[in-house]
Amino acid sequence: MTDLFNRIKPLFRDHAYAGRSLLFLEETDSTNLLCLRTPEIIERNGLVVTAARQTSGIGRLGRRWEQGSSGNLCCSFVIHPEIKMAYVPAITLFAGLSILKTIRALGAVDTSIKWPNDVLVGGRKVSGILCQSRYTGEKMVVVAGIGVNVAGDCGQFHSSLRNKATTLAEHGIEVDRQGLLEEIARQLEDILVRASKGEIRAILGEWTREAKCIGRAIRFANGKSFSAGVIEAVDDKGRLVVKAPSGRIYKVQSGHMDFDYT
Ligand code: BTN
Repeated sequence: MTDLFNRIKPLFRDHAYAGRSLLFLEETDSTNLLCLRTPEIIERNGLVVTAARQTSGIGRLGRRWEQGSSGNLCCSFVIHPEIKMAYVPAITLFAGLSILKTIRALGAVDTSIKWPNDVLVGGRKVSGILCQSRYTGEKMVVVAGIGVNVAGDCGQFHSSLRNKATTLAEHGIEVDRQGLLEEIARQLEDILVRASKGEIRAILGEWTREAKCIGRAIRFANGKSFSAGVIEAVDDKGRLVVKAPSGRIYKVQSGHMDFDYT
């Protein structure tokens, strides 16, 4: 364990929330799980843990996260947010916005976000986010796990994912993992500072414009079945506000959803 801490290096010392320091590992099971089970890591606000290889990367809804090529980015930001507890779930959306801004700055076009956690290029997923939180002592800590498909092409993924996934390289974007991680840290820090100043609505307004989801028909998981409706808004907690044909309003916090379901 001591050895692990000796390997933590300063990154952006002036950051308050994202990327103050960096821990690089050759291999771990999952950067999220490592953060969550290691008290000394989860206490370290601003630390970002990245691994060249994850042996059991996890995705949303209990899925596995396939890392694919060795050039892809897997990292977890340990964030001690200074926002009201009710807004903590919106950090998934903040992370998505920071990734979208990063890849757009690198030259990606036709970028969008699919609620809650997928960043797309050309309609295919290039990045996924898994935020997990823990209450430690008196504060809520969020581990924001981010996977970005950087290198190679979609042939590296399981056949079921090939027509849904893409990589930055497939869109002509050449970037190394460290450079990409640093730019995500800058963008995420900027958003978290704004959030701490009470700009949650403005940030989610930006997210909503990028996601282009208002007015779209969806089908969403509702308990053990599915319900359908049209997205009316995204609220301050990052929930989708969905109006069903009956007029009933649903606030969708998590789970699976599909677009254009009529
Ligand atoms: C998803 O789209 O389902 C979320 C994927 C999140 C993957 C990242 S990779 C780094 C971090 N560690 C994990 O085990 N998962 C997240």
